[in-house]
Amino acid sequence: LDERWCWWGFCLRGGVVDRYRGLTAGSGRVFERARRCMAGGVHHNIRFFEPYPLVAVRGRGAYLWDVDGNRFTDYWMGHMALILGHSPEPVVAAVREQLEAGTHLGTVTLQSIELVERVCRLVPCAEMVRLCNTGAEATMYAVRLARGFTGRRVVVKVEGGWHGYSDTLLKAATAPFNMAESLGMVGEALRYVRTVRFNDLEGTLRVLREVGSDLAAMVLEPVLGGAGAVPADREYLKAVQEEVERLGGLLIFDEIISGFRVALGGAQEYFGIKPDLCTLGKILGGGFPIGAVCGRRDVLELASPDKAKGERVWIGGGTFSGNPISMVAGRALLDFLEAHREEVYGRLAEMGDRARRAIDRALADVGVRARSTGVGSLLLTHFLVEGQEEIREKRDAARADREAQHLYYLALMADHQIFFLPGHTGAISYAHTPKDIEALVEASAEAGRVVKAQRDERG
Ligand SMILES: Cc1ncc(COP(=O)(O)O)c(C=O)c1O
Repeated sequence: LDERWCWWGFCLRGGVVDRYRGLTAGSGRVFERARRCMAGGVHHNIRFFEPYPLVAVRGRGAYLWDVDGNRFTDYWMGHMALILGHSPEPVVAAVREQLEAGTHLGTVTLQSIELVERVCRLVPCAEMVRLCNTGAEATMYAVRLARGFTGRRVVVKVEGGWHGYSDTLLKAATAPFNMAESLGMVGEALRYVRTVRFNDLEGTLRVLREVGSDLAAMVLEPVLGGAGAVPADREYLKAVQEEVERLGGLLIFDEIISGFRVALGGAQEYFGIKPDLCTLGKILGGGFPIGAVCGRRDVLELASPDKAKGERVWIGGGTFSGNPISMVAGRALLDFLEAHREEVYGRLAEMGDRARRAIDRALADVGVRARSTGVGSLLLTHFLVEGQEEIREKRDAARADREAQHLYYLALMADHQIFFLPGHTGAISYAHTPKDIEALVEASAEAGRVVKAQRDERG
């Protein structure tokens, strides 16, 4: 038995896991059905957690209901995509109308132009936009555009950076970083992807210079989602931008999480740094599938179908690109965000700051050292190990006590009906209220006691 199993054996003897099983027995039964016809019972690996995931049936506002009829306050918010909560009224109204007017028109639509015009208005680097259906596609296209534009091969990415499941960037996303992420990937393709540590300016500059004249692009999330929405140092971003430009490569911000989240114009607005290209997804679709690659006109123009073979960069969208449902949902959402900009982002930032600070204090008060990371409405609580003070990159997050973290999030679910996807960055939405945050803080103190008791028992 490995250590992990011993730990689970320990938990399984009772306590939180029993309470979770008691509360969610229906999910347990339904998940068995899922396992019979779906690998691991899921369609996205991160949705699985021990002992089994909640099976959800409905969402509204700040809440998620499971098959047992339990109502959870939801801080996962559909992979952080739902900034106004589940099914906000303006989005529902727009989608309802579009359902009658055609779900998929398969040609140029007014709806897609209207969405893209808004993106160009709100996102600083977006002179042009190509839409697709997922974030993974968008980052894959951004890399191809950069390689096509520069005529170079190498892309530099950050350790712990998650850009989706495509072959293009699926490297050093999860610890241990020196192992291939997946079978079935051709090593040669990843030979042209180099990795650096987030916020490590010296190391990053060294690798960029090594790559030198073969640098197509540096791609990074300015707020590193996989480490708990850890922000880059502004000086780091600035220096990286200057070096990438000096070497003749392109800077790509993956803003699939941070776009419309940390500010209406995304992290590029928040940091005041304009990349050459950026990718968007999640929030942009108003709760429906979407991905987007945006940026400089001279780069995006390469995707134009009037370019001859040999002069063009072929990138999708695909069959459902620019589908009218995602378009009108995204348009209604962006319109709401733009009209209520100060109020939405002010309130989200206040709730996020309060949550991060108060959760850490509540845990410290019960004898558990923790650090909640995040920017604005994003947050993840890490349980520090001896000698650890800060979480500045994915290595730090991986080194923290992941088992305590899992127990904490399971206790929030089992004892307080508060749902975060254990171990993953959560998101406060505009549907949450300061009262929800107070309830989260109080629940954190109790969940902290569960962690403390478990640690004491383990010795
Ligand atoms: C930063 C980032 N990039 C890309 C992706 C991939 O997006 P999608 O899951 O829509 O393919 C994600 C998804 O979580 C992400 O967080």
